Amino acid sequence: MVELVAPTQRYKISFLSAVREAQAAATGLGDTLNWNVDELEADFGKLLNNLRRYEPGNKLPEGFVYSESRWLVDGNDYLGRISIRYSLNERLREFGGHIGYEIRPSARRQGNGTLALKLALERTRELGIKRVLVTCDADNLGSRRVIEANKGELEGEFQLECYDRPIRRYWITV
Ligand SMILES: CC(C)(COP(=O)(O)OP(=O)(O)OC[C@H]1O[C@@H](n2cnc3c(N)ncnc32)[C@H](O)[C@@H]1OP(=O)(O)O)[C@@H](O)C(=O)NCCC(=O)NCCS
Repeated sequence: MVELVAPTQRYKISFLSAVREAQAAATGLGDTLNWNVDELEADFGKLLNNLRRYEPGNKLPEGFVYSESRWLVDGNDYLGRISIRYSLNERLREFGGHIGYEIRPSARRQGNGTLALKLALERTRELGIKRVLVTCDADNLGSRRVIEANKGELEGEFQLECYDRPIRRYWITV
């Protein structure tokens, strides 16, 4: 069963293979490309702690909002990740929004991105977030489809000063 879970050691082997896969393919955007596999292998607990560092109960650095990371998994298999920001600050309102997601290359184009956002929206409902902002690059056709399949309503397409490509902002009422 594909589900959204809190990151744990259970997915270490599969997560490491996903990082290697993303780095070999180098097709994705997203954080997976930036992790160092040797460091993760040596101390996976450090990654897990890092992923929890902006959850409620922690002291937030200036300008940060509470957020959580969840992984899309099937049994022991890591398929992708989402992050949910509990609120928006000025920067996230402009670009970033409430939810970010990334599917590992070998699990793409099988409906996993659409499912990941659907499950993330269920979580935002639990968190009491009623209008969810999701943003993407205007040329990220896969992400646009994922958002539109989840009833995203387009606010518009914008060229930001700090970013070289136009972006799209969508709102989803949950
Ligand atoms: C964007 C991303 C999440 C899509 O994930 P996915 O698992 O492939 O999504 P789905 O399988 O649910 O596809 C949804 C739709 O988009 C289409 N699609 C997916 N990738 C596409 C692409 N590269 N180009 C065109 N269409 C694409 C699918 O065919 C599907 O079409 P349908 O609605 O007609 O069925 C994934 O490509 C990814 O992780 N990319 C890197 C990180 C990223 O861009 N994150 C989003 C930041 S806003």
